[in-house]
Amino acid sequence: MTPPAFADAVTTRQKARAAGLDPNHWYPVEYERGLPACSIRATSFWGAAVALWRDVDGRVHALEDRCAHRSVEGCRLACAYHGWTYDETGRLVDVPHDRFGHTAPAVRLRDYPVRVRYGLIWMFPGDPALAERVPLPAVTSLDGSEPWAYVPIDFTWRAHHSMVMDNLCDLTHAHLHRRFASFQPGRLLDWDATDGRVLLRYEAKVGPRVRYDVAPSPMTICFEYPHHWAAFEWSGIRGRIRYWTFLLPMDVRTTRVFFVMTYDRLRLPALPLSVPHRALRWVLAAVQPFVRSLLDQDGVALEAEQRGYETHWEAPLVELNPAVALLHRLTIRKWEAHLARSLGVPA
Ligand SMILES: [Fe+2]
Repeated sequence: MTPPAFADAVTTRQKARAAGLDPNHWYPVEYERGLPACSIRATSFWGAAVALWRDVDGRVHALEDRCAHRSVEGCRLACAYHGWTYDETGRLVDVPHDRFGHTAPAVRLRDYPVRVRYGLIWMFPGDPALAERVPLPAVTSLDGSEPWAYVPIDFTWRAHHSMVMDNLCDLTHAHLHRRFASFQPGRLLDWDATDGRVLLRYEAKVGPRVRYDVAPSPMTICFEYPHHWAAFEWSGIRGRIRYWTFLLPMDVRTTRVFFVMTYDRLRLPALPLSVPHRALRWVLAAVQPFVRSLLDQDGVALEAEQRGYETHWEAPLVELNPAVALLHRLTIRKWEAHLARSLGVPA
């Protein structure tokens, strides 16, 4: 028996683990540098295959990917099987070698609104009429005249997006990271759940000095539907850190996770000077393999949790952190509202 679909789910956890994410938001799908001119990358949103394609003028397009044999012909998206090519709106523009007198089929691929910002390509998978009205998520620390240091990092994990969100918001899983201790079990001080977000305030020892005698830091972690952000300072090191995590729900058990971790100038108590943004970028790039190893541990745990859930979805759950139920309720509420809207039912 496989876990129940959303309509058949009984418990809060089963519903959260079957819910999608509301398509009427902007989702990152690829890095800008990952899509050179005249190239194609495949992605998907909740099971709908999408071909990302950059034209000869450098503009990015996202088209429904109906063709398993797509390629680039003359810098256009093409079906490698028939050689048909499409324009940027998904309209079939060229049907070559029509020597048997066939008329061109009326094929029109769906095209999705696309934006480029923060080095990421963003797609709006929902109602295109809403795309103009829904703002892109603001990474405020990169928006100012002096952007904070930022080195991108991403993973594709075989786990439902709600599991990833649980992990991001739950500071009780320090045991998992004992090899690369980056935080110690956090204490949830209080929380605030509204219609669109769950804001959690923790206190935890966090950062590279957790093994030293340093005071714990306050840490705010937020599920700002459908994304995640956290704001804190490393314990024993002065300097603001804000990171955003953007989840792309590729399908019911695959999530691409884009981390946008940004660092303001850091200052160690022993040093008279602060580390400026430019130097920090070098440091961040240098410690990238370490950060990947650390987050790989989350990936291994999440993929194990997904497999465990698929086997034991009927078993009762032991959950230590009361915040997790709040996260699940927000995910469920938003998905129910989306389903009701798509059926034309007033919320
Ligand atoms: Fe973790």
